[in-house]
Amino acid sequence: MFTKILVPTDGSVHAEKAERLGADLALTYGAELVFLSVIEGGALTSVGKQLVREKGLDVGVLVGTPQMAMHAPEGAPVVPEAEHTLASSRIQAELAERLASDAKARAESLGVGKVKGLTRDGKVAEAILEAAADENVDLIVMGSRGLGSLKGLLVGSVSTKVSHLAECTCISVK
Ligand SMILES: Nc1ncnc2c1ncn2[C@@H]1O[C@H](COP(=O)(O)OP(=O)(O)OP(=O)(O)O)[C@@H](O)[C@H]1O
Ligand SMILES: [Mg+2]
Repeated sequence: MFTKILVPTDGSVHAEKAERLGADLALTYGAELVFLSVIEGGALTSVGKQLVREKGLDVGVLVGTPQMAMHAPEGAPVVPEAEHTLASSRIQAELAERLASDAKARAESLGVGKVKGLTRDGKVAEAILEAAADENVDLIVMGSRGLGSLKGLLVGSVSTKVSHLAECTCISVK
């Protein structure tokens, strides 16, 4: 039924559910599995920062003013304000690598044979659609929501855009 499955992941609870379903379907159909984490750039959100800490990435502390620097944890590498944009991009790239490789390792431990983890830069929905076309996948499994903070929404903007524009079947996991 399916031969190659793309699972875009942002490390959210919904994306983790999508990872598990993607792995399960890959096992069921003997399909290849591709995980993708898109690096959007721009400032890190607080949820993003929390995820970075959870993953234990060594990224330094982003501080604005000298007063904030004084309150940084003892011995923590402090990133001056002028370098925040660069540091945020580097942190996001590290986080994306980690999300894709963690997902790959989990799928392998479940027995999926052909699996890879990718990252891409750019606008999230567009990057997912491009990867789906480049990788020639016939199924996308993604979360209905992600890390976004707009609690009232039932479905996130990335999920909405990808499911509307994807040329293959797209499953949105609740
Ligand atoms: N940066 C990303 N890289 C890869 N996949 C992503 C990324 N962001 C979101 N996704 C995928 O899209 C799904 C839905 O997330 P989406 O971003 O649409 O919801 P949200 O974060 O709650 O809302 P919004 O971003 O519109 O505020 C996620 O579960 C994940 O599968
Ligand atoms: Mg989002």
